[in-house]
Amino acid sequence: MTVDLSTLVDTENGLINRTVFTDPVIYEQELQRIFARCWTFLCHESQLGRPGDFFTTYMGEDPVIVVRRRDGSLGCFLNSCRHRGMRVCRADTGNTKVFTCTYHGWSYDTDGKLKNVPYEREAYYDEIDKSKWGLTEVARLDTYKGLVFATWDPTAPSLLEYLGDFCWYLDGLVDRRAGGTEVVGGVQRWRFKGNWKLAAEQFASDNYHAPSSHASAIAALTKDVDKQVARLGRNDGAQFSSDLGHATGFSLGKNLEHKLLGRGFPRILVDYQLSIWDEVVERLGEDRFLGPATSGHANVFPNFAYLPGFQTLRVWHPKGPDEMEIYAWVLVDKDAPAEVKEAQRRFAQLTFGASGILEQDDGENWAEIQRNLRGAITRREPFNYQMGLGHEWTEDGRYPGRLGWYASEQAARGFYRRYVQLMEAETFPTEAPKGPAVRSGRPDNGGIR
Ligand code: FES
Ligand SMILES: [Fe+2]
Repeated sequence: MTVDLSTLVDTENGLINRTVFTDPVIYEQELQRIFARCWTFLCHESQLGRPGDFFTTYMGEDPVIVVRRRDGSLGCFLNSCRHRGMRVCRADTGNTKVFTCTYHGWSYDTDGKLKNVPYEREAYYDEIDKSKWGLTEVARLDTYKGLVFATWDPTAPSLLEYLGDFCWYLDGLVDRRAGGTEVVGGVQRWRFKGNWKLAAEQFASDNYHAPSSHASAIAALTKDVDKQVARLGRNDGAQFSSDLGHATGFSLGKNLEHKLLGRGFPRILVDYQLSIWDEVVERLGEDRFLGPATSGHANVFPNFAYLPGFQTLRVWHPKGPDEMEIYAWVLVDKDAPAEVKEAQRRFAQLTFGASGILEQDDGENWAEIQRNLRGAITRREPFNYQMGLGHEWTEDGRYPGRLGWYASEQAARGFYRRYVQLMEAETFPTEAPKGPAVRSGRPDNGGIR
C-alpha cells in the first residue's frame, strides 16, 4: 500500500498536511522510496585511512558497515548476519580483518565474504556454499571530495548527477584549500523525539528562526546582541534551492572579519579565515567565500546536512516517524594549523555539539512540534510554507540556480517537491521535478546587499 502524497503536500500553494510527519505508513514508504534509493552520506574518507578501518552507521533504518578493504578501495555492507540477522559488527569504529557475528560465530572478511562457519563439517555436513552467503553489498559507493556516499538502487543516477547543481555550493565546504578536508574529534551521537524531515527542511531552508530561537545563544556568544539579532532579521543573504531537493542559505556582507566576529567566532578562527583569503578566493571566487563557504546552513537530500563556518556535518537518521538520531562530525581544512583544528573542534562542540548552546534551541523546537502532533485536532491543520512564494529568481550574476531571499521557504518547497516525486515514483526518476517558473535576474527591492 502506498499513500498518494500529492494530496497531502501542496508545494504550489505552500501547504503540507501534518500527518506527513506522523503517519507510520508514510514513514514505511520513505524507507522504501527515499532511503533505499537515494545516495545517502556514510562518513568522511579521513575516518578510514588504513586497510581494515571501519565505521558503522545507517542508511535509513538499515545498519551498514563502511570499510577500507585490503586493496585500498571502500566497501559498504549491510550490517546484518546472513544467518539470523544480528549485526556482525557492533563497534562504532575500529580496525579489523574479520567481522564475527556474536550470535553463532559466522565471520566475514572486509570484502563481505563469508569466511568461517563454526562446526561447518559437523553441523552443516560441509554442504553450505559459503560463496552464496556473504554480506549484502550496496549497489554503488562513491565519494565527492572526501565525502562518502552510497545507494542501494542500481538504477540511481551517478553521485555527481545526483548532487547536480548543488556541487557549486558544496565546494564551498569541501574544496576551499588544496589539501581538502578531514574530520576531527570523532563522531557525536544523540537522539530525540522529532521526525527527521523537521531537521532536514530547517537545514535546507530556515534562517528565519535564528533571530527568535537563538537570541539567547547569540547573546552568550557576542557582545553586540541587539545589532546581531537586527542584522539577522535584515535578510542580508540568499537561499538556493536545487530542483534535486538539495538546498542552502547563506549570509553575505563584504567584511568577513565583522561577519565572523558578529557570529561569536573566536579570534583564532577569524584570523585563520583571513589568512587563507587569497588561496580560497583563487579557488572559489570572492562571492562563494563570503557567502556559502563561511556562513549559513545546508541540506543534501535527503538527510545529510552541514553548517559552513561552524563546520558541523550531520546525518538525521530516521528512527520511526517521531524520532531521529543525529550523527555529527567536525570538518576542518586539512592544511589548517593544529591549533586552528582544535579551536574549530571546540567551537563546534560549544555551538552545535550534542549539548551545544545553539543545537539545544533547535532540538527543543523539533521535539515540541512532534509532541504536539500527537493531538487529533492539531494534526488537522496544514503547516504553512508560503514564505517568499512567487518571489524567486535565477541567475543573478553572483549565485547560480534557483534563488530566494535568506528568509524564505522556497528551499523547503523544493525539498518537498523532490520528496513527493520520489515517494510517488515506482523507479528512480530520470528528471528532477519541475519547479515554478522564476524571473531571471535579481529583483532590486532589497534582499542581497
Ligand atoms: S545470527 Fe549470525 S551467526 Fe547466527
Ligand atoms: Fe537553528
